[in-house]
Amino acid sequence: MLASTRNAIRTQSRLARNFSASSVASAQSLKERLAELIPKEIEEVKEVRAKYGDKSFGPNTVDQMYGGMRGLKGLVWEGSVLDADEGIRFRGLTIPETQEALPKAPGGQEPLPEGLFWLLVTGEVPTEEQVKSLSAEWNARGEIPDFVKELIDRCPRDLHPMTQFSIAVNALNHDSAFAKSYAQGINKKDYWQPTYEDAMDLIAKLPQIAGRIFRNVYGDGKMPAVDASKDYSANLSTYLGFGDNKEFVDLMRLYITIHSDHEGGNVSAHTGHLVGSALSDPFLSYGAALNGLAGPLHGLANQEVLRWIQKMQSVVGENPSDEKVAEYVWSTLKSGQVVPGYGHAVLRKTDPRYTAQREFALRHLPNDPLFKLVAQIYKIVPNILLEAGKAKNPWPNVDAHSGVLLTYYGLNQQDFYTVLFGVSRAFGVASQLIWDRALGMPLERPKSFSTAHIKKMFEGK
Ligand SMILES: CC(C)(COP(=O)(O)OP(=O)(O)OC[C@H]1O[C@@H](n2cnc3c(N)ncnc32)[C@H](O)[C@@H]1OP(=O)(O)O)[C@@H](O)C(=O)NCCC(=O)NCCS
Repeated sequence: MLASTRNAIRTQSRLARNFSASSVASAQSLKERLAELIPKEIEEVKEVRAKYGDKSFGPNTVDQMYGGMRGLKGLVWEGSVLDADEGIRFRGLTIPETQEALPKAPGGQEPLPEGLFWLLVTGEVPTEEQVKSLSAEWNARGEIPDFVKELIDRCPRDLHPMTQFSIAVNALNHDSAFAKSYAQGINKKDYWQPTYEDAMDLIAKLPQIAGRIFRNVYGDGKMPAVDASKDYSANLSTYLGFGDNKEFVDLMRLYITIHSDHEGGNVSAHTGHLVGSALSDPFLSYGAALNGLAGPLHGLANQEVLRWIQKMQSVVGENPSDEKVAEYVWSTLKSGQVVPGYGHAVLRKTDPRYTAQREFALRHLPNDPLFKLVAQIYKIVPNILLEAGKAKNPWPNVDAHSGVLLTYYGLNQQDFYTVLFGVSRAFGVASQLIWDRALGMPLERPKSFSTAHIKKMFEGK
């Protein structure tokens, strides 16, 4: 591991102080390690609140209330923090550091998402053995109930895959350990335990749900068997029909890792956390998060990007000049639409998740015509958005690149792309839900005002 990575782990994550302890006790399961960490973390939160509880994060303006609460500091999120210029850090690690630090599959170059989940939950980099144990545990939990299979099978083929995904995830609540324990009168100190069980079940079952939707909508509905000795991304790829393509499987590992978490304020993460605060179980909470992810300004942008690029191709043809591409971008803006894949509510530089995918493309598909067009667009769009003068961030986000990679390997069913985003985002939302319950986070209930009230408060002052 790089010295810088070690430093990042040591200095930027509170929990990472326990890194060496975890490595020694490598036979420990994730749940056992979590059980050790929770009392320490509860004490740490108590200390932070006692010392800094009355500290202010700054003013709260009327513009922020009308402006989608941009920059309003109102959430605690343990798994990741987003810096406007640098991008995301997972428990203190940047994306390149995460790629370097986390265990890989034999022959693979990209981090295993199992390791990312361990990192998000504990703040620690797991051993290979720990990662393998998570692969095995998720494989063992992966089967979905028959009635959920039937629900998916009964969806019309032209029902958007994200709607089908949301229906199936919500229905998993039938077997929620949390809902059952709550009905039996569980002590609130123990909420995290059934939440953990549900979180693990949720993540484990997503490949089968996603695969079934994919095969129903785009194939003959027959599900292949998976190899229980393989990792999460390999089995997800098998369900999608790409299990034999090693590069695609490695792409899935990268994809799931980088789409997993983007601090707490984005629509899907915040929705999962908000709904969970009512003690709705992780399936209901994540089902709600998925409905937010299905919006075109959020996760659905990755389907929109490819559509937009393909439309552009049909207008500008093969190997277009920069002028032709620019003309097309301007026509999008002039018709009152956004350029999908560009801009961000928080980021102000190129999204490192875009860069990680670009580097993957440079390694594996440098001469692909669609990749070349995406790279050409990257040179042109930021200047146009700057010239147009509205977007606060003219740079590409994560969604500007994912479609071209998936299409290259043959997964060109664009309507399905956000489902893959949804599989990944569960890692971040589920890990936070465990901590929400472990730390006793209360019902979320911010204050709102009417326009008439705001006028009355400030008129003449
Ligand atoms: C992500 C997004 C919703 C952030 O919204 P935001 O925080 O309100 O962004 P800004 O503050 O920069 O928006 C200011 C203006 O610029 C516009 N703008 C922002 N990004 C733009 C883009 N990619 N293309 C065209 N216009 C854009 C906004 O629509 C807004 O216009 P308005 O004043 O007429 O309402 C926005 O950048 C966007 O719509 N991007 C395209 C969709 C996308 O890629 N989503 C995935 C995000 S990860």
